[in-house]
Formats: sequence, structure tokens, C-alpha cells
Amino acid sequence: MTTTSSAPGKVYLFGEHAVVYGEPAVPCAIERRASVTVTERGDDRVRVSASDLSLDGFTVEYAANGDGQPDVDVPTPLIEAAMGYVEEALAQARDAAGRPDAGFDVEIESAIPLGAGLGSSAAVAVAGIDAATRELGAALDPVDVADRAYRVEYEVQDGQASRADTFCSAMGGAVRVEGDDCATVDAPDLPFVVGYDGASHDTGELVAGVRALREEFDFAADTVEAIGDLVRRGEDALAAGDLDTLGRLMDFNHGLLSALGVSSRSLDSLVWAARDGGALGAKLTGAGGGGCIVALAEDAGVETALSLSPDCEESFRAALATEGVRAE
Ligand code: MEV
Repeated sequence: MTTTSSAPGKVYLFGEHAVVYGEPAVPCAIERRASVTVTERGDDRVRVSASDLSLDGFTVEYAANGDGQPDVDVPTPLIEAAMGYVEEALAQARDAAGRPDAGFDVEIESAIPLGAGLGSSAAVAVAGIDAATRELGAALDPVDVADRAYRVEYEVQDGQASRADTFCSAMGGAVRVEGDDCATVDAPDLPFVVGYDGASHDTGELVAGVRALREEFDFAADTVEAIGDLVRRGEDALAAGDLDTLGRLMDFNHGLLSALGVSSRSLDSLVWAARDGGALGAKLTGAGGGGCIVALAEDAGVETALSLSPDCEESFRAALATEGVRAE
């Protein structure tokens, strides 16, 4: 048998990083999906091939029980990180189905650049758990898939993860996450434009950096709390469909993330290109360090303004994905 599932990436309207310390966050799923196809093998080995917007593609083969070194054709840290998510997702599926020795051929196709702040790892973990579990004849509802995908991120990121990315990818739409409380929320049509600088980051490292800053300086801890206050204001604006206030709060959120040291020269330059192009607001999205910004813009000029920036690799309009994980 062969089973395919897909799951969407996401942008953070507000609240990344602070969500790791129990503040609320509002990520929104976007119509850029990762799709994982799984075929059970007759042995306990795993073979993974992947193609991604930002990679030429790679193939990795190793034993399900961890025996032997992965045969990595393209040994970049990014691929090793991606493999960590796949490996843990398969372990969750084996556990859910009670099949500890199951081996798989896995094919990943993703329109979400790796490590760029659009939730590629969460989408691959969510789609991978769903496909592999169904391939083994078991079924999980999206909330259980989200919970297991969170455990994958927690494991791979050395305990530096919130439930936000994985819950959003599994459920779709706009969600609110505060600690272990996760819920979907009503949202108007949000005119997101994404700018991508072509860079990638290590989420675990960036989260660890914020943790260190927070421990060193009380005012960094205050900054994290201020993001929480901002998110609560943002939730009111979201409920009222007040795009102007949402935009202003996105600008403010970017400033606070910059203060926490997770922006970069190119992310700042994309944020300014979007603002100069008429965006209602713009901020980095995800862990930061490099990758993507998200702007709120009804005006078509913002996509053009972004694409003309020397720091921009790609810019695109991203519709809210109302569907989370789904069988393909
Ligand atoms: C990464 O996409 C979002 C962070 O808040 C980490 C997390 O919530 O797990 C930086």
C-alpha cells in the first residue's frame, strides 16, 4: 500500500518566541503544503527522498532501529535537521500503531522552504505522522497528530518548542496557543504577503539564544511579556477584523523580536521594503535569524516592492489555509 498526507505551513501573525515561555501566540496556516508519501517495506529499513523549493533534493537510507549511519548524499546540517523530524515522526507512527519494527519508503514533496520560518518541520512532522500511521492501518484525529508532532519538535529541538507550529499545521486556519491550551480562532480573510531572503536558520539555536538573553537581563524577560500583552491586543483586533491595528501591532512585534536578537539585516530590509511598498504592517515570522517576513497588504504593490529588494529571493501572496492535515 502507499499512503499520502499533506499539511500546511504557517506564518505567525504574532507571538513567536514568547509562546515558548507561556505567552499566547497566533499562527495562521497558509496555502503552501508539504506532502509525505509513505510505503511500508518488508524490512525494518527507512529510505527517505525529498524535494523542496530550496534544495535540489536528497535521498537518505538507514535502519529503523537506528543501526548504521544514514547514507546522506548531500550532508548539509539542514538535511540532517530535516531527517531528525522525519525519523521522529516515523517513531511516533510506529508507537501509535503498535508496530515498533515497521520500515518505510518515504517521499517528501514540499513547497515550504526548509528552516525559513514557514513551519516546514512542523508540516513534515504532521503529514509524516498522519501518512505513516494510516499506512500501518491505524488512524489518529488531527488533535492527536498535533500532539505527537509537538513531541517530535520537542525531541529534535532539545526541549525548545511550543505547540504552536504543529497545532496550526494539523488544524489549519488561525489558531491561538498559550502553553498547553490550543484552539482554532475565527479570522477574517487576511491579506498576507511573504518575503523570503533565501536564508535558513536553526530554530533550536535561536530559541536557546532568547532563553539566555532572558536569563541574563530582566528587561529581556519583560520584552517577552510585552509580546504577550501585544498578542492579547492583537486578538481583539483580529476578532474585530481591524486590519489597520493588526498591521501596527505586527510592526511593534517585529521591533520586540529585533530587541530579542532574532532579526537579521536582510529580514529588517525586507520588512522595510514591505512597509515602503504600502503594507499595513510587517514582521519576521518564525524563529528569525534569516528566512521569511510576513506583511499584511491588500495592495499588490507590496509583492513588487519586496521582489525589487536586493535581499529578496522570492515573494508571494499567501492565502489562509482553512484545511490542516489531510489525506491526499
Ligand atoms: C518557530 O517557528 C517558532 C518559535 O516560537 C519556536 C516554537 O514555538 O516552537 C520560535
